[in-house]
Amino acid sequence: MEIEHFLESKREVFIRESLMSDAFLDFVERNTDPFDRLMAYYKCAIMEVETKFKVLNEEFSLQYDHNPIESIKSRTKSIDSLIRKVRDKQIPLTLESIEENIKDIAGVRVICSFTDDIYLLADCLLKQDDITLLKRKDYIQNPKPNGYRSLHLIVEVPIFLQNEKRNMKVEVQLRTIAMDFWASLEHKLRYKKNVSPDLEEQLWQELYECAQVSAALDMKMQGIKNRLSMLDKPLPQ
Ligand code: GTP
Ligand code: MG
Repeated sequence: MEIEHFLESKREVFIRESLMSDAFLDFVERNTDPFDRLMAYYKCAIMEVETKFKVLNEEFSLQYDHNPIESIKSRTKSIDSLIRKVRDKQIPLTLESIEENIKDIAGVRVICSFTDDIYLLADCLLKQDDITLLKRKDYIQNPKPNGYRSLHLIVEVPIFLQNEKRNMKVEVQLRTIAMDFWASLEHKLRYKKNVSPDLEEQLWQELYECAQVSAALDMKMQGIKNRLSMLDKPLPQ
């Protein structure tokens, strides 16, 4: 573990140094305006996708008297995690290659109460004729070994500028409140330093158990909701 900490700290130094390398500084200097512009386009793409989900939420609340969306959290990737990814993926440090290869610069996270709402919203989004699906990963059907669950979509959405239409990539993560609660705690543990190996192993194990409990909770809540909605249906004549 000592060695791992040592390597990690060396890695940090390396990242800092390479972030500050002449090549990188030069890239930033030459591309400040185009880079800011590109980031603004990603922000526009986020607005487009958010609006689509808000419209669906509004429609469903009229139709079924139920809001499928609890909340939406969006972000564009920070510059240092972007550069880190460029380095890890070993792709060229150009705007074109960044736009082509890094698919989560714009991220929209949609938090739902119930698992069925996730699939309903994803289907409705993907049916829209201006949305192109590039990649779908269903970590609800196939949770990650650590217990992580969510539905991930990489989509392309057009934004309409003064003189052009531009397709932008957006990563959409759909999850329940329980999945989100779990993922934020897992994220904390993942980036926690100074945890002894024994404790770390114990916490990962407990977190894995929490993932199982949270999956069971989602299933049970969905079951109750389904039975409640049956009560609202008129009996067949
Ligand atoms: P990147 O991780 O983005 O390079 O690409 P990937 O192809 O591995 O993507 P994946 O769809 O597996 O994960 C993308 C994003 O989902 C991550 O950046 C996280 O936001 C989230 N995510 C994936 N796995 C986990 C996990 O185990 N725990 C938590 N907390 N978040 C996760
Ligand atoms: Mg990512």
